[in-house]
Amino acid sequence: MIIPRFQPFDTAFSPFYFGLVQICPEIALRFGFCMYFCNRMSEHISIAIDGFSSCGKSTLAKAMAKSLNYSYLDTGAMYRAVTLYALKQGFFKDGLIYMEKLLGSLGDIEMHFEVNPQTGKSELFLNGKNVESEIRSLEVASKVSEISVIKEVRRKLQAVQKEIGARKAVVMDGRDIGTVVMPDAELKIFLTADGEIRAQRRFAELRSQGKDVSMAEIHDNLKHRDHIDANREEDPLRQAEDARVLDNSEITESEQLQIALGWAHEAIQHKKSLIS
Ligand code: DC
Repeated sequence: MIIPRFQPFDTAFSPFYFGLVQICPEIALRFGFCMYFCNRMSEHISIAIDGFSSCGKSTLAKAMAKSLNYSYLDTGAMYRAVTLYALKQGFFKDGLIYMEKLLGSLGDIEMHFEVNPQTGKSELFLNGKNVESEIRSLEVASKVSEISVIKEVRRKLQAVQKEIGARKAVVMDGRDIGTVVMPDAELKIFLTADGEIRAQRRFAELRSQGKDVSMAEIHDNLKHRDHIDANREEDPLRQAEDARVLDNSEITESEQLQIALGWAHEAIQHKKSLIS
C-alpha cells in the first residue's frame, strides 16, 4: 500500500479516513462525497507541471506550493522510490528486470512524504526509512526509466496521484500530470530549458550533494531518459494541448516564479468567477 501523508485530515488516504472506512463505510462514503463536492466548489485549483528531466520542475513546483500554501507532490520521487526498492531487492540482473518478482512485491512498498522540521522540506520515506538522498543517486537515475515504463507501476502510482489531485490545492510535477493524472487541472505548465543548461544544472545539483559524477555521465543519462520519457508506450511525455509553455533557459528562478504565479492567480480568479 502506498500512502502519501500530508496533513491528517486533508486526505482521503489519511489513517483517519482508512479507519472510518473500516468502522463505518457509509459515513466514510458520505464524508468522501462532501470532501469531493467542497473541493469542486472551493476556489483552490490544481497545478500540473510537466517537462523533461532537469528543467527545474520541482524547484518551480515547490516555490509555487509555498507561495500559494498548497501541497506539493513530487511524482518523480515516487518512481525513484520503486526503482530503489527494486535495486535493493536485487530485481535488476544482467540488464534485465525480474518482472514477476517486482509486480508481486508492489504491494509491499509503502511510501510517504514527511516534512523535515529542520529544513522545512518534504522528504520521501520508503518502508519507514528516509531515502530522500538515495533516490537522487545516479544509480537510481540510470534505472528509473526502466521502472517508469511498466504499466502496472504507473497505474499504481497514478491512482494515488489522481486521488491527491482531485482534492485540489496541489502542485504536482512529473511527465504525465497534465495529460493523464490531472487532465482537468486548472493550470498546466510545460517547462522547457536548453539541453546544455539542463545538464549544467543537474551537474551542479549532484556535485553540491557531494556526488562524484562527470559531465559526460550526466549528458548520457539525460539523453537516455529524455528518449524513454518521450517514446515509451505508456503515458509518454507530451505537452497537454491547453498547457502554457515556460522556457526558463534565460530567466532567473524568481522571474519564472513570478510568471507562473501570475498564471495561477489568473486561473484562481477564473475559477472564482465560475463558482460565484
Ligand atoms: O522528475 P524525476 O527526474 O525525478 O523523475 C524520475 C523519472 O521518473 C523520470 O525519468 C521519468 C519518470 N516519471 C514518470 O514517468 N512520470 C512521472 N509523472 C514522473 C516521473
